Amino acid sequence: MNDDSSSRIVTGLLDWISRAPAGARLPPTRALVAEYQASPVTVQKALRTLSARGAIETRPGVGAFVRAVRTARPLDFAWQTEALRSPQHRLSPAPATMRASANTSIALHAGYPDRELLPERLIRQALGRAGRSEAAVTRAPAAGLPELQAWFAQELAAATPLGVTPVAASDVIVLPGSQSGLSSTFRALVSAGQPLLVESPTYWGAILAAEQAGVTLVPVSSGPQGPDPGALARAFAETGARAFYAQPNYANPTGAQWSPDRAAQILAVVREYGTFLIEDDWAHDFGISTEPVPLAASDDAGHVVYLRSLTKSVSPAIRIAGVIARGPARERILADRRASAMYVSGILQAAALDVVTQPGWASHLRGLKQQLRARRDLLAESLAEFAPTAHLTGLPHGGLNLWAQLGDGVDVHTLVRACEDEGVLVAAGHEWFPAEPSGAFVRLNYSGPNPGAFPEAARVIGGVLARLGS
Ligand SMILES: Cc1ncc(COP(=O)(O)O)c(C=O)c1O
Repeated sequence: MNDDSSSRIVTGLLDWISRAPAGARLPPTRALVAEYQASPVTVQKALRTLSARGAIETRPGVGAFVRAVRTARPLDFAWQTEALRSPQHRLSPAPATMRASANTSIALHAGYPDRELLPERLIRQALGRAGRSEAAVTRAPAAGLPELQAWFAQELAAATPLGVTPVAASDVIVLPGSQSGLSSTFRALVSAGQPLLVESPTYWGAILAAEQAGVTLVPVSSGPQGPDPGALARAFAETGARAFYAQPNYANPTGAQWSPDRAAQILAVVREYGTFLIEDDWAHDFGISTEPVPLAASDDAGHVVYLRSLTKSVSPAIRIAGVIARGPARERILADRRASAMYVSGILQAAALDVVTQPGWASHLRGLKQQLRARRDLLAESLAEFAPTAHLTGLPHGGLNLWAQLGDGVDVHTLVRACEDEGVLVAAGHEWFPAEPSGAFVRLNYSGPNPGAFPEAARVIGGVLARLGS
């Protein structure tokens, strides 16, 4: 017996173990004696070493087994660095709004409404019915279930003024949420390396989708009234961009809603430059003190590509949206959808359609309006009382968020961390800026759980701001 032959057996068995399933039985001692030409004592020593390292467990009288929980060895993926080289575009960290939160936190950072704001009874009934329908066992058409296409088209047609040709069901493509619709639309209408005008600030997910598509973002400043039409025209002229992504109603994050005049001026600029307006109507069901009239309703020349999401208002689990586009633009978007996802789950489409066509849907939306109003006002009043230096850029007429500007010199990341230490989650505003932030902002969502804690949250934010000298 010597140490060398024992370690030779250890090395050989570790290799064997690395390929064996957990719980596998090692060859019996006499087989190891024969294989390694070593004495039984040397084999036993090697087995003791493996046991001490946690690689095997020995059961007296039965044998030695690969440990079910193996000691981790560091994994080596260095080869992938050679294979992948540098990413084509910056890889963004996980967005703050998608972070899970502990039940004890007051969550003002997230983007999806709490379940108490969802039509839960309608959802459960709809899913039951969809499960029993044909949609549960058949493939849906690439552009979506015809009845759901018709529903999206009718909703927009109902807002269409006289003299404008309303959209048809065949103009609609159903999507598994509007996020993937943004990706498809950017790829289909802008393409890699080309400029896309976006409001600044704008939805972080649109920034992400554009970057992923290799599109070059060109920010156009957007205030409480929306972007300045003159500035938009200059940006089109200077960059040669063919599209502008915008949220005319209850923009995320600012809550801004364009006036009818402003909307008409923006549409005129888009027409003049022969470009597309990609209108993201994410908050169509979240009007509080105004009605959201889509800009797309005033366009029958195919300039406006209209995205309408049901994800947040029906259920984040029934993730359905529609994109309405006319002419070759629609064909390009559909080609992208076919290539990336082929079709959207029919069972989810059937469930979404069921929810929005129930008589209870309209009354749910009326109740939702009241709840959002109460939540918005409570959070805004709490901030005014306990965090007066967090200046709201406006009280939004709809949507789910307050956008607050902080005093000059406040480090937003320090504020976010300090609030989190005291159990209040807020989202730093920089994620909504396609370039450098124009100031220190936080976005506060009032649709999360436990609105009764809003005054407490405002007290924490105010306390942290005071400590930071604001
Ligand atoms: C402005 C905006 N557009 C699109 C989306 C994505 O919507 P969906 O959940 O339907 O993919 C969101 C979600 O937060 C949003 O805020």
